[in-house]
Amino acid sequence: MTDATDAVDTPTPRRNPKPEAKTIGGRELKPSTLMMGHGYDPALSEGSLKAPIFLTSTFAFENSAAGKRHFEGITGKRPGGAEGLVYSRFNGPNQEILEDRLSIWDGAEDALSFSSGMTAITVMLLAYCNAGDVIVHSGPLYAATEGFIAKVLSKFGITYLDFAAGATREEIDAVLEQAKAQAADQGGKVAMVYLESPANPTNALVDVEAVKASRDAILDADVTPIAIDNTFLGPLWARPLDQGADIVVYSLTKYVGGHSDLVAGSIAGAKKWMDPVRALRNTMGGIADPNTAWMLMRSLETVELRMQRAGENAAKVCAFLKDHPKVEGLGYLGFIDNARQQDIYDRHCLGAGSTFSLFVKGGEAEAFRFLDAMKIAKLAVSLGGTETLASCPAAMTHLSVPDERKAQLGITPNLVRISIGIEDPDDLIADFAQALDAV
Ligand SMILES: Cc1ncc(COP(=O)(O)O)c(C=O)c1O
Repeated sequence: MTDATDAVDTPTPRRNPKPEAKTIGGRELKPSTLMMGHGYDPALSEGSLKAPIFLTSTFAFENSAAGKRHFEGITGKRPGGAEGLVYSRFNGPNQEILEDRLSIWDGAEDALSFSSGMTAITVMLLAYCNAGDVIVHSGPLYAATEGFIAKVLSKFGITYLDFAAGATREEIDAVLEQAKAQAADQGGKVAMVYLESPANPTNALVDVEAVKASRDAILDADVTPIAIDNTFLGPLWARPLDQGADIVVYSLTKYVGGHSDLVAGSIAGAKKWMDPVRALRNTMGGIADPNTAWMLMRSLETVELRMQRAGENAAKVCAFLKDHPKVEGLGYLGFIDNARQQDIYDRHCLGAGSTFSLFVKGGEAEAFRFLDAMKIAKLAVSLGGTETLASCPAAMTHLSVPDERKAQLGITPNLVRISIGIEDPDDLIADFAQALDAV
């Protein structure tokens, strides 16, 4: 018999999917290992080693009974919810694999992906807030988040109170007590404690452990979740769920996507916290599209390598900048000069990150000369990409912030915001040196 006939006579038998290994000899496999295959079964996709991009708006039911069963799950007529895929506004294979992998990094039970960080934040806040509720947040927040809470949610009778990022337990207690009273007056509840750490662009860290202790003492932990935007340090350098946060929020556009070529967001936490947000996402839309989800799966395979290298590069660049005669100061988590902030850092952080503030001696003119002289670093907002980016918040991202608030936050005209990439560190230092010479 010829080989060709062989192949026809004895076709490759169908194999059952191999169960996935998450431990070996009692050793739990690390996220960086699991990123190569977790949640994906090649046997379900013609053996394709990598997940294909599933470009479809809808999914075929096996039969009518399966279709009915699905809708019984969705509508709550059958307990246990809906399983499987039905329509791409709700979910899809790429998004489900991505969400499984995102959960792993933060040690979360469940995760949801979104078309942007702001979609994740706004859908989550809407899912938790009713008219009369109060949100407590740390400040400052990413400007669009602050704007959504202050200007959009206020249209629906939702108010807010805030505390400074570095607040102590006593200061947090006072704000939560005030929020509880305010919610009672308004006929609502404290719907969420929303944090962002480190704050942008001050790099002030929030004491998540103190916030949790305060929430547990003053509010009902089953009613008021603590959510935290971990975009600047996650998933490698901070794991806020370990310190007591309930929901971790990301702009995946930054370090997780990591190549400045996509926009996406996510939240992760216990399933009970994800379910109301999933239900609203099903209604509103806003899930990441399949192509972006696929790109993020590729990004997650290298996120640890990229973040490690960017963190090491930032440490080298900051060591060079620290005593440079044209540098007035640095807002870098590797060089904290405040005992309380250092204490929070030691308890919460696994690395200093690669995004920091550089105060050039002088004012806007000096900062602009520095920025315009840079040859490797690109002049652009955003952060967490493979390439080094630099911008001037006072003149760009924070231009619309009132002067008084800018002064309060330390957003001075000479503040240059830097996100260090994965280039050669000595090349970066050469670039910073020549740009400072040009100031
Ligand atoms: C800390 C932080 N959170 C959220 C966002 C919003 O994310 P996106 O631009 O993906 O909507 C950003 C964007 O810069 C951010 O820096």
